Amino acid sequence: MPRAGTVVILAAGQGTRMKSRAPKVLHAMCGRPMIGYVLDQARALEPERIVLVVGQGADEVEAAVRDAGDAEGVVFVRQEEQLGTGHAVQVCLPELRESAGPVVVLYGDMPLLTEESLTALCEAQARAGASLLTATPERPRGFGRIVRAEEGAVRAIVEEKDASPEELALREVNLGVYCFDKDALLSALPRLSNDNAQSEYYITDLIAILIEDGVQPEAVVLEDEREAIGINTLGHLAEARAAIQERILERHLAAGVHIEDPATTYIDHGVAIGAGTKILPCTVIRAGVEIGSGCEVGPFTHLRVGTVLDDGAEVGNFTEAKKARVGSGTKAKHLTYLGDVTIGRKTNIGAGTIVANYDGKLKHKTVIGDNAFVGSGTVLIAPVRVGDGALTGGGAVVTRNSEIPAGEAWVGVPAKPLARRKNAEDEK
Ligand code: UD1
Ligand code: MG
Repeated sequence: MPRAGTVVILAAGQGTRMKSRAPKVLHAMCGRPMIGYVLDQARALEPERIVLVVGQGADEVEAAVRDAGDAEGVVFVRQEEQLGTGHAVQVCLPELRESAGPVVVLYGDMPLLTEESLTALCEAQARAGASLLTATPERPRGFGRIVRAEEGAVRAIVEEKDASPEELALREVNLGVYCFDKDALLSALPRLSNDNAQSEYYITDLIAILIEDGVQPEAVVLEDEREAIGINTLGHLAEARAAIQERILERHLAAGVHIEDPATTYIDHGVAIGAGTKILPCTVIRAGVEIGSGCEVGPFTHLRVGTVLDDGAEVGNFTEAKKARVGSGTKAKHLTYLGDVTIGRKTNIGAGTIVANYDGKLKHKTVIGDNAFVGSGTVLIAPVRVGDGALTGGGAVVTRNSEIPAGEAWVGVPAKPLARRKNAEDEK
């Protein structure tokens, strides 16, 4: 397929309609900032370079993209004043001159577009010289309308705020995704004007300018309009999150993960799950968690950052785990908190066990060995170590810095070795 020379992503806008201080493109969807999904779209086109236009919250956006490991091959360009989507492309002129090949423009607030749609966009550009994605959704949601000539050719894009009543009634809308011949774009860009309702330089006016120049842009009409969600409000964000969630769950199902009830299962982007694992209802699995094969998770389980379940581990009802390594065949099935803990193989964590990892100031680590038995209602006040084959009695409180040697049984409050407690009682 024809590949892009440069992909420009516009992400400098304020996102005022989100009613939030955070830059719009950093709002998280399934554990990943919105902009991450858009960078994936750009990468799928294998361009020579990706230009990310930043402005509002530019430092924050740049830092977040770098922190997420998404900055490779990305050139950040500052648009100091946000004078419109056309202006945002104008500030990229020096970068655009650098590479050959067509220029794709994406908006940072459209995270659901698929590689197939972008490929169709690039193919249309190769035929026509310029192309854009459109759709005919039920609700136009404030999108620009596509004006076509009688014989069907695209004539112009009219923004909702500038549209006449007849234009408002048009069903086909502009999705804000374009592919231009580089030279045609460079020649048209300086001719944008801001003579419109918002006094902004609109990228959408490029369509009419290109037609004047003898280039007839081709519209690619999306069949699945759900791809076309442009996120302008928190309501749109929730809608798009659900769509991304659906895609993530579909991928796991196709890979052999048994998800009993997708409707109540929340799995972030970037979670690895082995085939044959069962995910039971009402379960939340956060970004970066790794789950082996043949595990069982849920119902009502919350697996948080840094948690790893080895093959065959089972973490069940009302159990929360954070930075927990749960060994192969180990079970923690009921009402348990596992924080900052490494647990070996085939260990049983009894109902109501709490690993108390936080002393009010610092978090501490707990290590539990293989084949151990942690009795119901045990509180392990970190840091503690429980050796291989060791046992705690029901309701034991294992105080900080305790080390239960392999094979020993500790009981009581505070927990003491079973044998030593007996001796102490004999002396009375
Ligand atoms: C835009 C389109 C509209 C289309 C809709 C699809 C224009 C003029 N209108 O409207 O036809 O139907 O998207 O979602 O393009 N941005 C900048 N710098 C600026 C202004 C915006 O980088 O000066 C960025 C924003 O961060 C955002 C994107 O461009 O990612 C689109 O801006 P937005 O304000 O959301 O445009 P819409 O009103 O949605
Ligand atoms: Mg928008």
